[in-house]
Amino acid sequence: MAVLKIGNIKLKNRLFLAPMVDVTDCAYRLLCRKYGASMAYTEMIYVDAILHENLRTKKLMTIASAGDRPVGLQVTGNNLVEFTKFSKLKLLEDYDLIDINCGCPSSRIVGNEAGSYLLKTPEKIGEMIKVLKDAGHIVTAKIRLGYKNNNVLEVSKVVEKAGADLLTIHARTAEQRSSSLPDWSWISKVKKEIGIPVVGNGGVVSGESASRMLDICDGAMVASAAIGNPFIFRSILSYMKAGKEKEVTKNERVECFSEYVKLSEKYGVFDMSRVKYLGSNFLKGFDGASKARSALMVVKTKDEIGEFVKRIL
Ligand SMILES: Cc1cc2nc3c(=O)[nH]c(=O)nc-3n(C[C@H](O)[C@H](O)[C@H](O)COP(=O)(O)O)c2cc1C
Repeated sequence: MAVLKIGNIKLKNRLFLAPMVDVTDCAYRLLCRKYGASMAYTEMIYVDAILHENLRTKKLMTIASAGDRPVGLQVTGNNLVEFTKFSKLKLLEDYDLIDINCGCPSSRIVGNEAGSYLLKTPEKIGEMIKVLKDAGHIVTAKIRLGYKNNNVLEVSKVVEKAGADLLTIHARTAEQRSSSLPDWSWISKVKKEIGIPVVGNGGVVSGESASRMLDICDGAMVASAAIGNPFIFRSILSYMKAGKEKEVTKNERVECFSEYVKLSEKYGVFDMSRVKYLGSNFLKGFDGASKARSALMVVKTKDEIGEFVKRIL
């Protein structure tokens, strides 16, 4: 596998865990890394929330003390004054890089002219990147093909010119959200037009699709297929090495879920609704899985989760 570098960061392979709200906390990142993801990010956090750091934001920003590297802090926003203040925060030293989210289509974020709204004004994205680069950070951007109309070539060139170290492309427009099929041909087109590494995202769900993505660009980023399924990275690596996906056993699924709960407690990021959401995704693909998921939904305390795991193992 060719070596991929982001700035001076050398990655052990070309598989990326996507930033995901309510999923990619440090406990979850550790599990995905254990099974083979080389790069991971926090979930998207509003720059303004970091400037007014509260307990919830702190949790979202937590990095595990060992094994959680390299890690990107993913942010969004729309205000250059805030970005400038943010760029100088001492706490940024804890992260290996800053990723700017220019792809989130949610109405709350777009209503604040952040996330995918930024694609309407490529020059603003360029200015944000410059502010962070001037403050000495490694900077990446995650974009979509466009907001409504496809302007991915224009945005990609602006991102490169502003000095970004890597570009991730989710191959759908914001208007398409995640409904229609991603159009990877645009990832190939961008790859031919710019010199910085390009990571492809959208529809990487297996060893076969990851291999195809890695044929056209420098990295493959997995989101939905990794929810409750950190094993996807092992499966992809196994496919690339031996042409065969690796099966996941019931015990592996249940034990991995249990490990998630323990790690989230250890790092102070435990959240019952998140545990249930992830648990209902972990507990799939075996006899009795549906019953197990229903039983998990009525669990009330951390201790009950421990008992629940013992019961279904
Ligand atoms: C539950 C969930 C949360 C997400 N949160 C974020 C986020 O915080 N930041 C981001 O850039 N993209 C986010 N996304 C988008 C994914 O990173 C990714 O771009 C998209 O799901 C397409 O990849 P996929 O086909 O592998 O799912 C999220 C997606 C999902 C399903």
